[in-house]
Amino acid sequence: MVGIIGTGVIAEEHLKAYLALSDRCQVAALCDIFPEKAQRLKEKYGLEAAEVYRDYNEMLKRPDIDLVSICTPPFTHLPASIACMRAKKHVLVEKPMAMSLKECDEMIAVQRETNTYLGVVCQNRFTKENQILKALIESKIPGRVLFGQVESFWYRGHSYYDLWWRGTWEKEGGGCTINHGVHQIDLLNWIMGPPETVTAVLANAAHDNAETEDLSAAILTYKGGAVVTLAVNLVTHGQYQRLAFQCEKAGISSPYQVRSSRSADTGFPVDDLDTAAELEKVRESIPEPEREKHEAQIERVISFLEKGEIHPEDSADGRLALEVITAIYQSGFTKSTVRLPLGKDSLLYDKEGINENGRNFHAANRNVSGGNQEELK
Ligand SMILES: NC(=O)c1ccc[n+]([C@@H]2O[C@H](COP(=O)([O-])OP(=O)(O)OC[C@H]3O[C@@H](n4cnc5c(N)ncnc54)[C@H](O)[C@@H]3O)[C@@H](O)[C@H]2O)c1
Repeated sequence: MVGIIGTGVIAEEHLKAYLALSDRCQVAALCDIFPEKAQRLKEKYGLEAAEVYRDYNEMLKRPDIDLVSICTPPFTHLPASIACMRAKKHVLVEKPMAMSLKECDEMIAVQRETNTYLGVVCQNRFTKENQILKALIESKIPGRVLFGQVESFWYRGHSYYDLWWRGTWEKEGGGCTINHGVHQIDLLNWIMGPPETVTAVLANAAHDNAETEDLSAAILTYKGGAVVTLAVNLVTHGQYQRLAFQCEKAGISSPYQVRSSRSADTGFPVDDLDTAAELEKVRESIPEPEREKHEAQIERVISFLEKGEIHPEDSADGRLALEVITAIYQSGFTKSTVRLPLGKDSLLYDKEGINENGRNFHAANRNVSGGNQEELK
């Protein structure tokens, strides 16, 4: 049995996924501090058996609920996850995992203590394009990664930051890097593992109603010498996301593109059709996914729970995404290179460190409450 906490925009993706898996789970409860929103969702999807709650602590008293999707704003991820795990419920929490590395560590500590599953949404790992990218790099055919480009380019107008919790360090935990870039950062970590150093610049180019950045540009370095440039912004016309890796024998991108060159005697490039053909064979061997995005990730979680598996690496991956984001913020604020890993002694480890060392670009003018946020859609 499943409960969903927070019934705004993203909750619908969770709900649709659970409904697509209705032979293996049932949504028994919907909770929102604006219960009329939960009620609307219940009616829209004809969930006659689902109870509506205003307070998740009431919902968590139900012994029949095994798994909870947390779809609330980032500042609530820590208390809601901990309440769920202490009530012996497994948790799938929306990205970002939490507001600080300290909060991630607290969540992971409670996960260990309660022996529950704690996963963080990373639905873009479950797209065909990104599965191909990972499989091609792992095939070893292209060789070592030398250089990567990660682009998380979005367009959000001024009114996007009118919603009460957005654009604030206190409630969103940061700007586009933590909220939008987190997806590509998770994919980068999934492919490359943790970086050794991060050097970044933060800016707010076009949203004078947000405390936080709407643009970040970072350079990451890796053990073995690879360098990655990572750019996130909310000012890109025709928004798009891309990952591209130049390896020794081929360049591979998502959305899918492969180019392979070798050196002529003069050092100039000639096409390497053999390597390109080998990579194409790997691509063709990857089956069409049965499910993608939230549905695929939720199916994976349900499979773990059916087998009684906890997979602590999932919460560690959620933390690693926040670690890279924290390094970008620390580097941007201090105008210096930051070395990972980041632990308790790092400058922005907790909320106090973020408040002390962070910077407000502008004052946040919050004027749309959660109850009427549909105005923004
Ligand atoms: N995976 C993705 O692609 C994706 C996309 C959008 C948002 N998100 C994430 O999902 C989360 C929610 O974002 P959203 O866009 O759906 O926001 P939203 O504002 O549309 O919905 C959040 C809901 O949570 C409710 N809520 C707030 N505090 C609560 C509490 N204590 N108890 C119960 N309900 C509470 C609000 O009333 C609101 O209905 C954020 O962490 C966001 O980053 C993920």
